[in-house]
Amino acid sequence: MLLEHLHRPLAIEEKVGRRADLVTVADRASERTIVERLRKDFPGAGILGEEGGVYEPLRVAQDDEGVERWIIDPLDGTTNYAHGYPLFCISIAYERDGEVLAGVIYAPLMNELFTAQRGGGALRNGEPVRVSEIPSLAEAMVVTGFKPYDYETNAPYFAKASHIAQAVRRDGSAALDLAYTAMGRFDGFWEFDLAPWDMAAGMLLVREAGGAVTATDGSPFALTGRSILASNGRIHEELRSMFIPSTGSGSFDTSG
Ligand code: IPD
Ligand code: CA
Ligand code: CA
Repeated sequence: MLLEHLHRPLAIEEKVGRRADLVTVADRASERTIVERLRKDFPGAGILGEEGGVYEPLRVAQDDEGVERWIIDPLDGTTNYAHGYPLFCISIAYERDGEVLAGVIYAPLMNELFTAQRGGGALRNGEPVRVSEIPSLAEAMVVTGFKPYDYETNAPYFAKASHIAQAVRRDGSAALDLAYTAMGRFDGFWEFDLAPWDMAAGMLLVREAGGAVTATDGSPFALTGRSILASNGRIHEELRSMFIPSTGSGSFDTSG
């Protein structure tokens, strides 16, 4: 469906009060399709979808089922999508009693399907994947993201990482940033202002691929905590220490 809409002229809207936060007919159609299917097949589960798809379970859960919820980003990387840039995906996570147990991210134009099940590892198109073994930020390619209307929050860290790392990217899809970290294309990823649907599936992928996931200050990751720092584990501490402001001037030591 996303690929069909990709080749049509798109009605692109900005979300109210959020400059350059785009939504297209494809975001909404994708969410509608996913929600319809999940409501039919999993009536005992609630749903949290980015485009307004928030639903309570259709029936009372049995005792052994726990509180189930699907967390959906029907199109992550909408701005990329609107420009025909190929890095966009669908991200769906399954949560029980507040814990993410399964996640799936699909990038249709690249035909890459990333899946993870709690305790069962992470897969790319059915084959197991692992995080990279890069031992230092100086040898790493890391990625970040930020909202178009909030460059300033991330700017000092983007600058600092650019001085130290081999490469820094900003690719426009948080879910794919996490999937690529899980499979070792990226060695680390951080972002300060994300929603549960951007992170739920991808953070499980990184953990199941052997990586580390925390908040940017190193505290335990929370789905509603907005920030995320994900890495291959080896460079986690080095990345985390970037987020400690140096005292005084408000500038950052970029000597590495
Ligand atoms: C956005 C993307 C982007 C990230 C933004 C997200 P959307 O999601 O994941 O990479 O930097 O913070 O809002 O709007 O394309 O689903
Ligand atoms: Ca998103
Ligand atoms: Ca989205």
